[in-house]
Amino acid sequence: MRIYLIGFMGSGKSHWGRRWAATHEWPFYDLDDMVTSSERLSVTDIFEQKGEEYFRMRETLTLRRTLGINRAIIACGGGAPCFHGNMEWMNEQGFTIYLSATPAYLLQQVMNDRSQRPLLKNVNEAELLYFIQQKLAEREPFYQQAKLTLHADGLSANSLDAVIGPEN
Ligand code: S3P
Repeated sequence: MRIYLIGFMGSGKSHWGRRWAATHEWPFYDLDDMVTSSERLSVTDIFEQKGEEYFRMRETLTLRRTLGINRAIIACGGGAPCFHGNMEWMNEQGFTIYLSATPAYLLQQVMNDRSQRPLLKNVNEAELLYFIQQKLAEREPFYQQAKLTLHADGLSANSLDAVIGPEN
């Protein structure tokens, strides 16, 4: 089984993905890391030098390649489910989990590492909450197609016990 973790920037996909993978002794992959290591550029540099459209194309190709992985937790970038039919594809090819969070929670999480997130980099602090609210509303129709929704503020190392049974 492939588990795709989706959700807005700052919802904790990589953090929890890594912890759950460790708890269950499963492999863990981070889609952004897979893209940046094949491009040898940071996400910010890819956006700046090659544009968002190019990034979305690389992200989609990298996602589709996860078909070769049989058993893993895969954390996806916040925009991944919203482009090129990726949400539908993930639902066909794996089990999708949405880490949902309120705009206020997300704001708190992204505040300090905004510079590494090209979409947030140039939004000034006063407008950040509004930006998150708007972007989240735009993306929720995709995120809500996930098979399971977990709330980001109530998670623990054992949150996936019911999903990953001993037989997996
Ligand atoms: C993006 C989220 C980022 C990264 C890129 C674009 C988005 O990943 O893929 O900056 O469109 O929401 P995280 O959600 O891991 O920050």
